Amino acid sequence: MTTRPTQLDAAHFDAKARQWDDNPVFQERGLKIAQAIRQAVALNKRMSALDYGCGTGLLSFPLKDELGPILMADSSGGMLEVVAGKIAAQGVANMTPMKLDLLADPAPTQQFDLIVTSMTLHHVPDTDAILRIFHDLLNPGGTLCIADLDQEDGSFHGPEVDVHHGFDRADLGRRAAATGFADVRFQTVFSIAKARETGTRDYPVFLMTARRAGA
Ligand SMILES: C[S@@+](CC[C@H](N)C(=O)[O-])C[C@H]1O[C@@H](n2cnc3c(N)ncnc32)[C@H](O)[C@@H]1O
Repeated sequence: MTTRPTQLDAAHFDAKARQWDDNPVFQERGLKIAQAIRQAVALNKRMSALDYGCGTGLLSFPLKDELGPILMADSSGGMLEVVAGKIAAQGVANMTPMKLDLLADPAPTQQFDLIVTSMTLHHVPDTDAILRIFHDLLNPGGTLCIADLDQEDGSFHGPEVDVHHGFDRADLGRRAAATGFADVRFQTVFSIAKARETGTRDYPVFLMTARRAGA
């Protein structure tokens, strides 16, 4: 009997949330992506930001002192509880956690100057739909920063998990441009090493930056 692959739902991430920050690779990945964003985008404290699929905030906590209000959105209540605990413990004034799945819930009414998302796009089934929503949530001239896996053979999560097997940069870039984004650029920002039967395998992580036209 073959088992059908399943999506990693909010309950999966709820169960992982308390231990998420114990993983040094996740910590380093967040720092490296944050550094690349800092170098690619002129951040300032007047910028409003959305971190979509924020998890425990490993991407946005390093950037919080360089930005204005940051909406920390995730579909996992467990992840958001960890974010809320870190906000309280560190006395952070510019971060707000929000339970949100943009493909299922109404979009927030506010607009953003910056949207960042790390390792979440491959969990969102409809890439074109989420790109459209990100586009519409950005102010004209606002920047989208997507960090995710380069296209791989499915071994990153394994055959039992139903996710995108990373992304082909040219294809994602074309989709972003078709949605209305300009200045679409890619760079490699990190690599995740995983032990496999055949030895260690590296999974590169890209950062795509793109600008909503109009400013
Ligand atoms: C691999 S984790 C990455 C977490 C964090 N961005 C990081 O880099 O450590 C993916 C995150 O996306 C969230 N997620 C998955 N699908 C989502 C959706 N449709 N809407 C919002 N968040 C989602 C999960 O709950 C999880 O926190």
